Amino acid sequence: MERVRLMSEGNIPCHVAIIMDGNGRWAKKRGLPRLLGHRKGVKALEKTVDHAAAAGVKYLSAYAFSTENWKRSITEVAGLMAIFGRYIGKKTAALKAKHGRIRFAGRRDRLPPSIVRALEAAEESTRDETGLQLILCVDYGGRAEVVDAVKKILASGVDADAVTEDLLSARMYLPDVPDPDLIIRTSGEERLSNFWLWTGAYSELYFTETLWPDFDETALDAALASYAGRQRRMGGRLEA
Ligand code: IPE
Ligand code: IPE
Ligand code: MG
Repeated sequence: MERVRLMSEGNIPCHVAIIMDGNGRWAKKRGLPRLLGHRKGVKALEKTVDHAAAAGVKYLSAYAFSTENWKRSITEVAGLMAIFGRYIGKKTAALKAKHGRIRFAGRRDRLPPSIVRALEAAEESTRDETGLQLILCVDYGGRAEVVDAVKKILASGVDADAVTEDLLSARMYLPDVPDPDLIIRTSGEERLSNFWLWTGAYSELYFTETLWPDFDETALDAALASYAGRQRRMGGRLEA
């Protein structure tokens, strides 16, 4: 696969990645428990998936739980896991009906086994679908992804001289998924928080003050419009 392109093909990003941030602040502003913010966040994701598919986006990755999010209270973590379980159970059939595919990026050894089973069942039942691919990043960390790739390489006994960028890329969680063209972060924070560290090397970044539960079709259109106006050089220079 040609990973480095001078310009994106067309103005619609092939892979849009979203750091869905601000659920807690959304709830706090309304005097509600944080988990209600997360529940409202699921609705925003549903809208965003449908609108992205209609806009021609092929891959949508959603950062739902980072390798650092285990530091939160046990109540919040357990509540989030319950929300993931319900979301996957409910959305798999609906997405499949629209030819969407669900995939999962992250560590699989620390999540509740029921969640891993649900994610793997969703992957399995949608694996032949050819529409939008929704990539749920759960217990995902960019550094963990690189560490896991290095472990796989060492275990295969590869010579140091044979270690290349292509080899590392091939050992990331989803090697067939194109690098994210656009990374959106909501809630006004302007950092990656360990998202797509390897594959996001040349992603365009878009930050919005909108809190994730308020993100909707108009907000996605604004991000796509910003992307469409950018010039991606990837270290090269376009001929005058
Ligand atoms: C994002 O919302 C969802 C997760 C990280 C699981 P937050 O829970 O981080 O919301 P804020 O940043 O506290 O507002
Ligand atoms: C990043 O948000 C992770 C997810 C959205 C899942 P956080 O709220 O955890 O990130 P920080 O702590 O503000 O960097
Ligand atoms: Mg946050």
